[in-house]
Amino acid sequence: MEKEKDIIILGIESSCDDTSAAILKNGRILSNITANQEAHREYGGVVPEVASRAHQQNIVPVVDVAIQKAGIRKEEIDAVAFTRGPGLIGSLLVGVSFSKAFALALDIPMVEVNHMMAHVLAHFAEDPEPSFPFLCLTVSGGHTQIVRVDDYLKMEVLGSTIDDAAGEAFDKTGKLLGLDYPAGPLIDKKAKLGHPRFKFAEPNMPDLDFSFSGLKTSILYFLKKEIKTDPDFIEKNINDICASVQQAIINALMVKLIKASEETGIKEIAIAGGVSANSGLRAAVKSEGEKRAWNIYIPRLEFCTDNAAMIAVNGYYKFLEKQFVGQDITPVARWKI
Ligand code: KG4
Ligand code: ZN
Repeated sequence: MEKEKDIIILGIESSCDDTSAAILKNGRILSNITANQEAHREYGGVVPEVASRAHQQNIVPVVDVAIQKAGIRKEEIDAVAFTRGPGLIGSLLVGVSFSKAFALALDIPMVEVNHMMAHVLAHFAEDPEPSFPFLCLTVSGGHTQIVRVDDYLKMEVLGSTIDDAAGEAFDKTGKLLGLDYPAGPLIDKKAKLGHPRFKFAEPNMPDLDFSFSGLKTSILYFLKKEIKTDPDFIEKNINDICASVQQAIINALMVKLIKASEETGIKEIAIAGGVSANSGLRAAVKSEGEKRAWNIYIPRLEFCTDNAAMIAVNGYYKFLEKQFVGQDITPVARWKI
């Protein structure tokens, strides 16, 4: 019997501040290379202009390394899958333009990928894979949503944030505490050394939607009040403040995840996006999962934060459906699943 031809996809991700390239063979990852941008740290957030310039510098070397590490020749690549949006337009433009040039040079098709859909499909980068239907809590620096996933390319947003994303809640409160950007991982680290003894206003959102701006304001007023009586309050209590902030954000997320599972009857539960790297959230999902007989899916950290492997996975399933785009494609800053 003739062996079926391998399908090799190059994935390209450049929606925010990480430049990433991945090679996927028959749906399995051969390489996943990401260049992070340290330049934003001193500004306290991602500077779009700085990000797009860095993508421009990083993209060719990152793709070269991904191809080398995969042990393939670029002529073997069957399609380029790239993030078309949502994201920063100047950053997306670099990945989209690169993908067009690459596809043109090799005369291969292009596949557009929605970054938020790709975060969900990161669960198919490695085993164990969730079975359909499953719920995915996608929590990143730009988005917070609960998605019902019925098939690789069939998903519906059940609820999302009306203001800040969960990652923004971490990063903005971190800024109030004088922590570097991105503050999420720093709060996580300090929270491990503290106790969540401070309480903040809890969001009161209907349905499955989220809101984090009230929490940020509540923390701001709390800090202002405490600093009046003790100017060193933050310094002295940093670990407990971090533990309390983290607990408040996790509670807000868990309440809605539990509600979504109860309402849909779905017990296949996945988390995705940069904030799913948070050790407190991982622990909360695991312990709630044990209580409720959920099957839990938490990707390795490499596939939680922005990466091209998830773009290549999404591209692979669209490739199988022959969902290609032409050279006239342009990036989009906003794009709903
Ligand atoms: O998905 P991601 O890498 O980029 C996008 O926003 O698309 O997510 C980045 C976000 C940042 O807000 C960062 O603070 C947060 O994920 N983050 C964390 C942790 N690691 C990254 N938040 C809490 N705890 C962490 N360990
Ligand atoms: Zn992301």
